[in-house]
Amino acid sequence: MEPSSPLLDIRDLTVSFGDGRFQAVKGVDFQLFSGEVVGLVGESGSGKSLTAFSLMGLLPHGARLDRGAMIFQGQDLVALDRRTRRELCGRRMGMVFQEPLTALNPVLTIGEQTAEIFRLRDGRSAKEARRLAVELLGQVGLPNPERAAESYPHRFSGGMRQRVVIAMALALKPALVIADEPTTALDPTIAAQIVRLLKNMAAERRATVLFITHNLKLLAGLARRVMVMYAGRLVEQTGADFADPLHPYAQGLLKAIPPDPADRSVTRLAPIPGQPSSLADDRPGCPFEPRCPERRDRCARELPPMFELPDGRLVRCFQRAPQGDGQAALRPAAQADVPPCSG
Ligand SMILES: Nc1ncnc2c1ncn2[C@@H]1O[C@H](COP(=O)(O)OP(=O)(O)OP(=O)(O)O)[C@@H](O)[C@H]1O
Ligand SMILES: [Mg+2]
Repeated sequence: MEPSSPLLDIRDLTVSFGDGRFQAVKGVDFQLFSGEVVGLVGESGSGKSLTAFSLMGLLPHGARLDRGAMIFQGQDLVALDRRTRRELCGRRMGMVFQEPLTALNPVLTIGEQTAEIFRLRDGRSAKEARRLAVELLGQVGLPNPERAAESYPHRFSGGMRQRVVIAMALALKPALVIADEPTTALDPTIAAQIVRLLKNMAAERRATVLFITHNLKLLAGLARRVMVMYAGRLVEQTGADFADPLHPYAQGLLKAIPPDPADRSVTRLAPIPGQPSSLADDRPGCPFEPRCPERRDRCARELPPMFELPDGRLVRCFQRAPQGDGQAALRPAAQADVPPCSG
C-alpha cells in the first residue's frame, strides 16, 4: 500500500526549446513516495535529464518550463520565488550528476567544499562543519578521511570523486536525491560499488531516490519501480522486475542490453530498428510508431493515452490496453487541469 500523499507529485511537466517550438518533455506525470528508489530509463535524448533539471530548478539556457506542477512535500515548486526555491532545493533535494568533476569546485579542497554545506546551509560553526565533513567523507568510504579532506578534486579517481559528490548530495539528509547517470563515467566494478553506496546512504537517511540511467541492468535489485521515457513522454511504469516489460519500446530496450559474458545462451544484441525520435517530430500519433513492430493504422493518427492495467502497471500503447479497446485509459492524453506557467 502506498502512503496517501506522495513526497513528489509531478503533473503535466512540459519543457520546450526555441520559444516553445520544440517540446523535449511532453506532459510527464509521476509520483514518488517516501523512501522508495525509482528508476527512470530511456535512450539518449528522451528527456530524462531535463525532467531532473526541471525539478532542481536548473534548466539549461534556452529551455522553458511551459506547463506543469511539481508538488514537493505539499508545496508547488513552480509557484515558489527563486530564493525560497533555492533554499528548499538545497536542503531537501540533492543531485548526483553524471560527471562528478562538474559538480566539484576545482579550487577548493574536498574538505572545504563539504564543510561549506554544513556551514552555509546548516548554520554550523567552521569547526563543527569541518568535523561533520570529515565524518561524512569517512562514511562514503574514503580511506583516511582527514587526509582526503585536504586534497583537491583532481587528485582523486572518478569513483572517489563520485563518492564525494554523493556525500555532498546527502550531507543535509535531503528527502529526495536525484542521481542522473551517476556511473556512466566509471568502469563496471566501480559503478556497482557506487550504486551500492548510494542505495545504502539513501536508505540510512530514509531518502527517496530517482535513479536515471540508460542501463537497465543497474536497476536490478535497486529500484522498486521503473519508469520508461521515450521522446519526451513516459510510456511505461512498472514494478522493479523488468524482465517482462509491456511497451514495445521497453521490450526492445531490454533485448538491446549487452548479454552477460557468462551467459552463453545469448549471443547477439537486438538493437531497436529505426532512428530515435527527434525534437522536430510533431506527428500526431505514437512517437514510437515508425519503429514499432506492432504498429497499426491508429497508432500513426492518435497518441495513445496512459492505460492502467488491472495489476497497476501503466503503459502508453493501444495494443496493451485492457480489453484492447482503449476505453480504460488512466487519463486522457490532453490534460486541461494544470495551468500554463510563465517560468
Ligand atoms: N541546451 C539545450 N539546447 C537545445 N536542446 C537541448 C538542450 N538540452 C537538451 N536538449 C534536447 O532536449 C532533448 C532531451 O534532452 P535530455 O538531456 O533531457 O535527454 P536525456 O534523456 O537526459 O539523454 P541522455 O541519455 O543523452 O543524457 C534532447 O533532444 C536534447 O537534444
Ligand atoms: Mg541525460
